[in-house]
Order: sequence, then structure tokens, then C-alpha cells
Amino acid sequence: MRTLMTYLGAIVFLLLLEISSSAADQKATSTQCPKSFAGRCHCGLAYSIYDNYDRKKYTVNCTNTGFNNVSMLLDLPENTEVLIFVGNSVPSLPPNVLDNFKNYDNLEIIDMSNNHIRFIQGKSFHKVYNVKTLILDHNDIDISQENVRPRILSNFENLERLHMTNAFTEKINASEYLLSLEDIFFESDLIYLKVLHLEQNEIWSVGTNKRVFCDLVKLEQIMLGDNRLTDFDFTIDCLPELRFIDLERNMISRLSDDAMKTLDMFMVNRTKLQIKLDDNPFDCDCRSKNFLQWLNKTKVDIMHWKKFDCISGFPESNTGKTFSQVKDMRCPGISNSGNKNDKETVIKENTRSRNTNIPRTDIDVETYKGPHYFNGDRGSYGNHSSATVGILSFLLVFTTSLLMAVAYFQRKKIKDVLMPHWDYVTRKIGYTGIADEEAPKEAHV
Ligand SMILES: *[C@@H]1O[C@H](CO)[C@@H](O)[C@H](O)[C@H]1NC(C)=O
Ligand SMILES: *[C@@H]1O[C@H](CO)[C@@H](O)[C@H](O)[C@H]1NC(C)=O
Ligand SMILES: *[C@@H]1O[C@H](CO)[C@@H](O)[C@H](O)[C@H]1NC(C)=O
Ligand SMILES: *[C@@H]1O[C@H](CO)[C@@H](O)[C@H](O)[C@H]1NC(C)=O
Ligand SMILES: *[C@@H]1O[C@H](CO)[C@@H](O)[C@H](O)[C@H]1NC(C)=O
Repeated sequence: MRTLMTYLGAIVFLLLLEISSSAADQKATSTQCPKSFAGRCHCGLAYSIYDNYDRKKYTVNCTNTGFNNVSMLLDLPENTEVLIFVGNSVPSLPPNVLDNFKNYDNLEIIDMSNNHIRFIQGKSFHKVYNVKTLILDHNDIDISQENVRPRILSNFENLERLHMTNAFTEKINASEYLLSLEDIFFESDLIYLKVLHLEQNEIWSVGTNKRVFCDLVKLEQIMLGDNRLTDFDFTIDCLPELRFIDLERNMISRLSDDAMKTLDMFMVNRTKLQIKLDDNPFDCDCRSKNFLQWLNKTKVDIMHWKKFDCISGFPESNTGKTFSQVKDMRCPGISNSGNKNDKETVIKENTRSRNTNIPRTDIDVETYKGPHYFNGDRGSYGNHSSATVGILSFLLVFTTSLLMAVAYFQRKKIKDVLMPHWDYVTRKIGYTGIADEEAPKEAHV
């Protein structure tokens, strides 16, 4: 009898053990998200960079999960405030990303960066009426003629910040998608939009549809840094609230007379407009005289223009001087015009090496530019010469091989050292680590 009791006791004990351990397993993998999230996401209260760690919000975070569809988002908890779905691979968004029969009154932020998104259907986004920030950075979105989806943003009735940094496919000429973008803005009623990010989109001209931003009647900030613009060439008199334009690191050698006139006109009834033109390849020859004189008297605040560098100029001695130093600007002889290519290489080198010296913005404009998902894509974009890329690649390969060799010979030791930590990282990865990241700041505007 006694042995039987012990026997039964042991069985019960084993059963309990089994149950509790499987419960523990489930806890370790469930991450508090609905089942369809397959344990790959994190759901819960968290601080995030989007509001500068302002307060904890109910966050659903699917980062680098390997998902190749968004069907689990139909089960998104209704109390979600922040939806992060980044680093996955979803070439095409289906007609309903979120469940049309649920209400997402609290959903404020959607980040769908870096998902290889190519197509967004006209009806992809419903129930996003309270979303204030939409981030679509680093995708391959195609909004060109035949695939035009004029209604893709039409349900974002309260959108205030739209991030489309490096968002569009490179297969299509930027002037074409700017036309499509104008359609999208026209159809969408984004009447609360304050901040528009269009950095790194190979935009070389807006001139073909100058009024592209005019439907965004509350627009305050236009971010066009790291494009290929050669002038300021779009209409702004339709934007009464506009107060900041970012044109950093473009291809502007001087502003044209038209551009300066447009800007002065804008200032007639207004007191404040700031423009950032840092790190453009300015040319200090006779053709820039008007531009420099204008800078000295305009009401537009061209931020720290006195420190801009002449990347080229005539006489040659102007090259390398700052705008406040340059006095004498003459017209280059005909013989110089053949050297354009040489000049451009010099321009690139100079622009890059000076990036660090230039004082950063000191005004309260939007500085959150979204996390950079690509290696080596921090700080300056687009201006790397192939030599630098070559050297960097070589160093990268070299260092990697060295590390691998060391790792091979020390593999046992490394394993012992890393294993416990690795376990810890994979199990407990959560929201505590973000403070250590290079967190872009967003100033409140
Ligand atoms: C989302 O999850 C990723 C990886 O799990 C983490 O690195 C990131 O910091 C999280 N983001 C937020 C805002 O919690
Ligand atoms: C979506 O992805 C999940 C996991 O990757 C997969 O199990 C599921 O079948 C996919 N659903 C569709 C409709 O493709
Ligand atoms: C885009 O088109 C314009 C004219 O239509 C052309 O000048 C420009 O070189 C094109 N850009 C690219 C990257 O194809
Ligand atoms: C400036 O304001 C005045 C009076 O409010 C108006 O008549 C004039 O047209 C405005 N000028 C511009 C350029 O907007
Ligand atoms: C700016 O204007 C002042 C006088 O109004 C003049 O003394 C100064 O040299 C000008 N600076 C430049 C860079 O043109």
C-alpha cells in the first residue's frame, strides 16, 4: 500500500512538473501576443523612440521575425497604441491589413519600415483614423502610373507625420513617382499632416509638378535631404504653416533667381522660414554673386550660411573658403568648362570630409529620422566615393576573416563565455535595451 502511495505520489509529482514546465515553456515563447503571432513578436507596455520615450504605450513589436505576410495583424489587440512591424519581407500588402470589424481607437503609431514592401493596395489600411505617425522608410514601394494607388493613405484622417525616407523603388524615375505622390496627396485629405520626410529618394527635380505639396495644407516641415536637387523648385505659397525646409546634402551649387524670388515672396506676410542647405556643393564664381548678396539680406533664415564652404569657384583660390570669407567672385574662362568631372569628384570628397564640422541644427524641428536598417547607412548618405567604399569593403572582409580565424582557434572558450549570455539575450530580449541604442531624437513641435 505504502509503495503504491509513493508510486502514485511520484506520478502526480511528475505530472505537475510536466505541466508547470510546459506552462513555463509557453510563457517563455508566448510573449503575450495572440497565438497567430507565433511567438515571434512582443506585446506589452513599452517606451519607444517615436515619442522620445515619453510614456509607456501598448506596443506590438514584430522586428526581424521572418514573417512574409501580415495575416497575423488581423488579430492585433484592440488596445494597441504602437505597431512596429519592421525588418520583415512583405512585398505586397493585402486589402485589409487590420481587421475591419475591430476598432483601433488608440492606435497612434505604425512603423512598417524595411519590409521590402512593393505594393500597397488602395484598401490596405482601414481603422487607422487615429494614427498620427506612419513610417514607411526603406521599402521598394511602386506608386508609378500603371500601379497607381491614389487611395493608399486616404484612411489616415489624422496623420501628422509621414516618413517616406528611401521608400520608393529605384526602378522608377523620381519625377514619375512625385506625380503619383501628388495624386495620393490629392485623394487623401491629409489636412493635419505637419511633417513630411522624403529623404534619400533620388529626387533630382520637383519642378515637373511644383504644386505637389499644396494639398497638405497644414504642412510645417518638408524634409528633402540627401536627394539630388539642384535648386529649390517647388511652390510654397500654398502652405501657410510652412516653417522649415531641409535641403541638406543635395546638388545645389547656388539658388536660382527664381528660387530666391519665390522665397522672398513667401516672406512678405510671414516672419519665419528656416531652410537647411548644409553640405551642398556650392560654387563661388561670378554666377553666385546674386545668391551671396541675397543670403546677406533675405528674411529667410538660411541656417548658418556664413559657414558654408565654396566647394569650387573662380578664382580657384575661392575653393575651400567659407561664404563669409569669399570676397572676389569672377567668371571662369572657357577652358575650365571641360573639367566638369574632375570638379565633381573634388566636390564629393570635400562634402564628405566636412560633414562633421558643420554645426547641427539648433532649432526645434523634427530630427527623428527613423532608425537606419542598412549597414553603413548612418550619418551621411549618397556621397560615398567608390574608393571609400572599396577601402571599407576591404577592411570589413579583412576584419571578418581575422575574427573568424581567432574564433575558430578559440571556439571552445568563446562558446563557454557566450552561451549563457546568448540564452539570456534570446529569451529576455525586450524593451529595456532601446535606451542604449543610438536613438534619434524627436523634438516636439
Ligand atoms: C522591438 O523589438 C526589437 C527586437 O526584439 C528591439 O530591438 C526593439 O528595441 C524593440 N522596439 C521597441 C520600440 O520596443
Ligand atoms: C503567413 O505566414 C505564416 C508564417 O510565416 C504562415 O504560417 C501562413 O500560412 C501564412 N499565411 C498566408 C495566408 O500566406
Ligand atoms: C529621369 O527622367 C529625366 C527626364 O525625363 C532624365 O533627365 C533623368 O536623367 C532621369 N533620371 C534617371 C535616374 O533615370
Ligand atoms: C499680404 O497680406 C495682405 C493683407 O493681408 C494681402 O493683401 C496681400 O495680398 C498679401 N501678400 C501676399 C504676397 O500674400
Ligand atoms: C553683408 O552686408 C553688409 C552690409 O549690409 C556688408 O558689410 C557685408 O560685407 C555683407 N556681407 C557679405 C558676405 O556680402
